[in-house]
Amino acid sequence: MLIAHLSDLHISAGAPETAPVRRDAPDMARRVIADLLALPQRPDAVVITGDVADGGSVADYALVREILAPLPMPVFVVPGNHDKRGPMRAAFGGTIPFAAPDTLHFEAQLAGLRLIGLDSLVPGRVEGALDGTQLDWLEQRLASTADPVFLLLHHPPFPTGNAHWDASALRAGAGRLGRILRARTAPLRLLCGHVHQAFHSQWAGHYAAVGGSPAFQYGFGFDGDTEPPLIDAPYAYWLHHCRADGSFAVHPRQMNLPPRADL
Ligand SMILES: [Fe+2]
Repeated sequence: MLIAHLSDLHISAGAPETAPVRRDAPDMARRVIADLLALPQRPDAVVITGDVADGGSVADYALVREILAPLPMPVFVVPGNHDKRGPMRAAFGGTIPFAAPDTLHFEAQLAGLRLIGLDSLVPGRVEGALDGTQLDWLEQRLASTADPVFLLLHHPPFPTGNAHWDASALRAGAGRLGRILRARTAPLRLLCGHVHQAFHSQWAGHYAAVGGSPAFQYGFGFDGDTEPPLIDAPYAYWLHHCRADGSFAVHPRQMNLPPRADL
């Protein structure tokens, strides 16, 4: 099974609300979708770890749906801090089995693989949080399966190495999430977004990764406490090749995007 991990498309129908977002971000998302469709092996599912829209308006999500429409495989999304729950639920509620009326967490089964999405959105805030109700639900769902789990969450709970980013990542709930994941011995992969810089990590005993963004990319900012510099660089998304025995390999799929006019 092949799972494509994208993140932070920041699609907006009008001018972007977020300063670093390139104005042609919707076109960049279209290029990523076209690249994905041209792969020699078509992914079985696509997961997008948040900030799917930039402003979160109904028009933004209509454009998101239009851009994602060519994908014939299931597409799963979790909200980021730039998403809005109401319009996002309206856009994806027909295809994603959201588990509660007020948040957008969900669970789905793909052959021998379980997908679980968490909703860390705190309206009006950059940082994320998970409340006890959602963590109770997660604990229960993880206990229900020994299948490999892909856990989707916008805000990384693990350190990025940059104090600026760590202050705006997952805050409330991160400690308990770590204890829940550490208690799980079956395979689990934690896929996140938010940082706009693709990297791998290991957290609470499991593989973890951040997906990069085709809308804007940050350079390295290791050990810094200020926002890293914006860069023009080849964009990469992740392809997770999962085998029946629970083993897997993660391949970066690199593609060149047109240079930004403003960098
Ligand atoms: Fe983002």
